[in-house]
Amino acid sequence: MCGLTLFTNPLAGQAQMSQASQVSQASQAITTSGVLQETLKTCFSCHGENGISSMPSHPSIAGQKGDYIAKKLTAFKMAGKTHDANLENDIDDSVSNKGTRQGRLRADPVMEHMIKGLDSVLIVRVAETVSKLACRKETNRPKSRLYPAPRSVVECIACHGSKGLGKRTDTPVLAGQQRSYLRRQLLLIRETAWGALPREGESARAHPIMERQVARLKIQDVDVLAKYYSSLDCRGGLSKK
Ligand code: HEC
Ligand code: HEC
Repeated sequence: MCGLTLFTNPLAGQAQMSQASQVSQASQAITTSGVLQETLKTCFSCHGENGISSMPSHPSIAGQKGDYIAKKLTAFKMAGKTHDANLENDIDDSVSNKGTRQGRLRADPVMEHMIKGLDSVLIVRVAETVSKLACRKETNRPKSRLYPAPRSVVECIACHGSKGLGKRTDTPVLAGQQRSYLRRQLLLIRETAWGALPREGESARAHPIMERQVARLKIQDVDVLAKYYSSLDCRGGLSKK
């Protein structure tokens, strides 16, 4: 799945490995983990301490599905770079589609800038690490019981589950996510469904499945769905609705 597998030669056993290459591999591992830590520090400067966001426009990433994070980071990387042959080689075809609308386009000037320096191996490592972080602080209990499920949620349950945790690895956790962020994503996807073309330097989001879901949603539904999902527990425990 990631670039690493391509470079692993199954015939190169430990015994054949020279001492020099063992030393270089060890120091490489240390550098990689240093790079990972530095990268995460940058991510958390916007996405909150340990990936739990305190800013309404910035999503929490802690505890999000690893596959989903990797796909979205790859999409940000592909945005606006459809003609870069090197990049296309660098990216797993199954997670993007050369940035076309039919593929999983996702554009956002800030995230496109942030992701520039990350290769596909680091993207996967960042995604895996972030996905294992606690999605909320122990003290920060959600108020899910106070907010009733809106009727429109029946359309969403098939994929996002009754607790908003997402049934598949490519379906994001919505429970406990920042409300303004969820609202904005629904509106961005709806714009695409309505035929808007992405404009240079502006956020855009295309996803054929989700476009079908939101195309007919009224603004009131969007508001109430964003409010509902943000009020659920990201761990799934409290939601009984
Ligand atoms: C300068 C601020 C900033 C930094 C630094 C940053 N992000 Fe983001 N990130 C954002 C914003 C804003 C969005 C929402 C974009 C949108 O509206 O589509 C976002 C969106 C995302 C998403 C999509 C979330 C979802 O639920 O679909 C992921 C994943 C993500 N960022 C991961 C990262 C990672 C990993 C890093 C570090 C390599 C990082 N971000 C660094 C601001 C930042
Ligand atoms: C057929 C499956 C399916 C249904 C039904 C569905 N979704 Fe989704 N949803 C997805 C998938 C897959 C994604 C990931 C899209 C991507 O990769 O960009 C997603 C993404 C989202 C996101 C973006 C989350 C983020 O972190 O950025 C929101 C918000 C969302 N869905 C809300 C809803 C709502 C509200 C409904 C009901 C009206 C709904 N979805 C119905 C499959 C579905």
